[in-house]
Amino acid sequence: MQHHILLADDEPNIRRVLAAMLKREGYKVRAVSDGAEAMAELKLKPWSAVITDLKMPRVDGMQLLQHVIEHYPDTPVVIITAHGSIGGAVDALKVGAFDYITKPFEQEDIQNSLRKAIRMRELNEGAVHSSQSGPLGDDPATGRFGIIGRSTQMQEVFTIIDRVAGQPSTVLITGESGTGKELVAKALHHSSDRSGKPFIRINCAAIPTNLMESELFGYEKGAFTGADHAKPGRFELADGGTLFLDEIGEISMEMQVKLLRALQESEFERVGGLKTIRVNVRLVAATNRDLQEAIKQGEFREDLYYRLNVVPIHLPPLCDRADDIPLLVEHFIQKYNDRLQKEVESLSDEAVEVLKGYAWPGNIRELENVLERTMLFSDGEVIEADDLPTDLVERSSELPIPSLHIPAGGDTGLKEVVKETTSRIEREYIIRALEETGGNVTQAAKRLKISRKSLQNKMKEFNLREDS
Ligand SMILES: Nc1ncnc2c1ncn2[C@@H]1O[C@H](COP(=O)(O)OP(=O)(O)OP(=O)(O)O)[C@@H](O)[C@H]1O
Ligand SMILES: [Mg+2]
Repeated sequence: MQHHILLADDEPNIRRVLAAMLKREGYKVRAVSDGAEAMAELKLKPWSAVITDLKMPRVDGMQLLQHVIEHYPDTPVVIITAHGSIGGAVDALKVGAFDYITKPFEQEDIQNSLRKAIRMRELNEGAVHSSQSGPLGDDPATGRFGIIGRSTQMQEVFTIIDRVAGQPSTVLITGESGTGKELVAKALHHSSDRSGKPFIRINCAAIPTNLMESELFGYEKGAFTGADHAKPGRFELADGGTLFLDEIGEISMEMQVKLLRALQESEFERVGGLKTIRVNVRLVAATNRDLQEAIKQGEFREDLYYRLNVVPIHLPPLCDRADDIPLLVEHFIQKYNDRLQKEVESLSDEAVEVLKGYAWPGNIRELENVLERTMLFSDGEVIEADDLPTDLVERSSELPIPSLHIPAGGDTGLKEVVKETTSRIEREYIIRALEETGGNVTQAAKRLKISRKSLQNKMKEFNLREDS
């Protein structure tokens, strides 16, 4: 695994020299010029270690150190200090810095210090997370259990997974489509002591009602026409492991009764069978439906809901945790570099802003698809906003202003550029008002605080049809 080192120093020369030394040692390095920038980088992904100067503008090294200790206690901080001013370094060590190196530094000093820091970090992680070293692993670079996210919402999800993975309690995972419900279900399984046993999934939406019972509970020979041999159901297959009832919101009322009985009594019979079967199964259910609403509509049994919802895990939609987007982007870039044999390094800041401004109705699945598609067609190292799908760019609230057709050579006047930029924003704003009012021009005009007539004129100017 390659270690990512965050380096903060306001002197460009030091940054250059240190970064070169670190790269020679095989580290990946990100160099920034002050503590504030470093804090921003810390948010983006986990770092193996932070190296920081003490004296920096805006946020100094001591403040940065305190920030890291508070928010990323696993990340070791190494302080850079000038020869002869050890005082500051000693203070930093008291606060919790891992080590310090003095300028001018030797390659060897840095190497030793970092090696120790990273080793300590790994030991700590081993101690805390050893119970979770399932097939999905817990590599800070790929995210915990393969689930990427550093936002507070996702941290909460991780905490719940940690807490309940080892318990037999039923978990109900809710969240919009593409938010990672299946990923969480697998994480629960792989981080439990059941990980050596089967993880069995059944997609309740994909199985016709009349087959559901025999799928879940199995059947005996002769139970129905075509049953020429006995077959165990998914409950039996999952014995000792985890049964994942995906799209639980779609199961019929009749099956809900049968499922409830099996859960309450921990036993069932195969279809057409008399023998009572008992299994030891940990149940995880997931749905993108609002089950409380379904209960009100009379489509979901309240008693089953309470039986399933012992431990609720809610996955927030991607638009509520846009801070996780850069991290997810990096993850998918790596994934599709491998798959598509590309050498994409990153997205431009502007492109990331566009992604952050988009609403992501299909959540992480949609983000993944967008990146795959974009990478398929790009050959450069950096993906620009222009490379992203046009409809996405148009719908993002973060218009990629710097890339608006700014003419080459700079022989177009500032006025023209401003005019073009403004009208693009105007157009976007009008489209949004129309979308939000279902294409009703009168209402849209009211929202925009302009007359109906001027809206119609604008629409003509921008080639927007009345029914759009
Ligand atoms: N936090 C995450 N980190 C990395 N990949 C993720 C994350 N969340 C989702 N994904 C990826 O996004 C895709 C969709 O995730 P998943 O199938 O778990 O969603 P879901 O909530 O079950 O969606 P649906 O309700 O449509 O079945 C998968 O490819 C998954 O690997
Ligand atoms: Mg799913």
